[in-house]
Amino acid sequence: MCGIVGYVGEKNAQDFLISGLKRLEYRGYDSAGIVTIKDAGGEKGEATLIRAKGKISNLEEKLAKNKREDKIGIGHTRWATHGEPSETNAHPHQAGYIYLVHNGIIENYKELKEHLTEHEFKSETDSEVLAALINSFYKDGKYSLTDAVVQALKLAKGTYGIAAVSVLNPAEIVVARSGSPLVIGVGHDETLIASDASALVGHTKRAIYLNDGEVATVTRNSIEIKTLNAEPVSAKVEEIETNLAAIQKGGYEHFLLKEIMEQPNSLAETLRGRVNVAEGSVRLGGPGLTETELRNIRHLLIVGCGTAYHAGLLAGYYIEQFTPEITVETVIASEYRYRQAYIPRDSVALIVSQSGETADTLACLREIKKQGIRTIGIVNAIGSTIAREVDGGTYVHVGPEISVASTKAFTSQAIAMVMFGLTIAQAKGVKSSILRPYVNEIAKLPEAISATLKEVEEPVKEIAAKYCKYEHAIYLGRDTAYPTAMEGALKLKEISYVDANAYAFGELKHGPLALVDDRFFELALVPKGELYDKVVSNIQEVLARGGHIVAVTNNLGFDLDVENVVKITTNIEIFAPILMNLVSQLFAYYMTTAKGLNVDQPRNLAKSVTVE
Ligand code: M6R
Repeated sequence: MCGIVGYVGEKNAQDFLISGLKRLEYRGYDSAGIVTIKDAGGEKGEATLIRAKGKISNLEEKLAKNKREDKIGIGHTRWATHGEPSETNAHPHQAGYIYLVHNGIIENYKELKEHLTEHEFKSETDSEVLAALINSFYKDGKYSLTDAVVQALKLAKGTYGIAAVSVLNPAEIVVARSGSPLVIGVGHDETLIASDASALVGHTKRAIYLNDGEVATVTRNSIEIKTLNAEPVSAKVEEIETNLAAIQKGGYEHFLLKEIMEQPNSLAETLRGRVNVAEGSVRLGGPGLTETELRNIRHLLIVGCGTAYHAGLLAGYYIEQFTPEITVETVIASEYRYRQAYIPRDSVALIVSQSGETADTLACLREIKKQGIRTIGIVNAIGSTIAREVDGGTYVHVGPEISVASTKAFTSQAIAMVMFGLTIAQAKGVKSSILRPYVNEIAKLPEAISATLKEVEEPVKEIAAKYCKYEHAIYLGRDTAYPTAMEGALKLKEISYVDANAYAFGELKHGPLALVDDRFFELALVPKGELYDKVVSNIQEVLARGGHIVAVTNNLGFDLDVENVVKITTNIEIFAPILMNLVSQLFAYYMTTAKGLNVDQPRNLAKSVTVE
């Protein structure tokens, strides 16, 4: 979603702003802009505002004709909410002396706008309203920029991460947040601002994560933070763990392929120090629950969006298999936040999010906490809002996930949640003969993922190329392969724009079977196990109606006359769906490259959905 960068220091601000915005490109955007201010020594600095619709390369073209040596500036990538993607709607927005970049949504912008009659509005955005509001307090010199920002934010309703500069003081940037992340990078004789720490990597390792309700005034060598109620805040400087290699393509053509191929390592990172094969047990320190608290859990509520939701569904199927007297409910955050759902007292909620910033998931977390329910984060982004607000948590440690389509996070989220389920089962005294097979397979998974990726990549590439003319797809699975099919269909639709939907095999006869014709192909997940014969019968029913089936199976004896089969030969059985999902990921990737589409930044989408 939208991205913010800012710079004040001794170096060229334009250079940092452009490189920072490029780092944030992966989040999804449709226009971009920067403003820098030259300290001309007089009463007022000279501002250079450059904005462009479309890619940052368009902005760079304009910049080439407007090179400046200015030492302060702010920049933005915009993902349109109010008003179409256009140069005029792009940020920074100017109002009088000030320039503003804003992430989030000002909900009462219409009402505020009615009172801002002195400002001549140029854009259709809510952000320009906020800029005009700040300037209305600032323009007469009664308030400093910081105090003007505070006054304006007290009137604004909604979510924001903002950075503002003034031509009257080209030495400071004022930033504030409520519901939209902001990080301050602490450098030597320079201070950097970003909505995502990845923009700071390579510039500084020291960062301050602003909390909701805080406003900071930064210069090149000072950072002063206070709350909107003027209480001083003593900033905690944290270390940025990400390195440059983690945010580069490392020889791959696309981040998506890199991230798919990283899964043996990324899952190994999730498991590091947490699995004891000799004892057949797992240990998670982060959740911070005592043995008694774990034993008393009767209900697990799992909350997430998109891929995180699918990972939760999948984990739920597993946890129910080995944990007695427990119910698992996995919910979509955007729905759950408005439901009047009763949460039993003996519940624990798992809050699942790669970015740790998803607005709906965050809203659920806050709501669930209000009800006094213990919350545990299953989060990737270290220091993210969800990670900081949960009562305890397990980082999945997969490293930065840049491609909009989530891949390595899914695998690790699902397994991390299964491990949390195992810690509950252990505390409840479930026999080790029941739990050991899960623990053993989890420990073997990184290697099995590596072997499977090598085994299936070429065949999947060939098959995907054959199916890239289709506009409709049905993904099918049963039991643990059903949420896996849902995740596969999401991957295909979001990057290749194929209308892909998943159904439980058993539901076919209740409606979706009517769809089967030559416009559709079906991707069937067929793991060995109790339901194998039933799935084979379901496939026969689709074949009998002229289905175009690609089967993915770990049953080497699978001999149905389907159009294509992808076989997985590792000896992983319980977690075979995790391996089958690799096939779906590669299938989506190769179908998308065959169609020549933008793999890493699919249209209309953003990596981190920080608005509702
Ligand atoms: O950062 P989060 O895990 O909270 O994101 C949740 C979804 O927005 C995300 O998984 C989305 O569905 C992906 N684009 C799917 O590939």
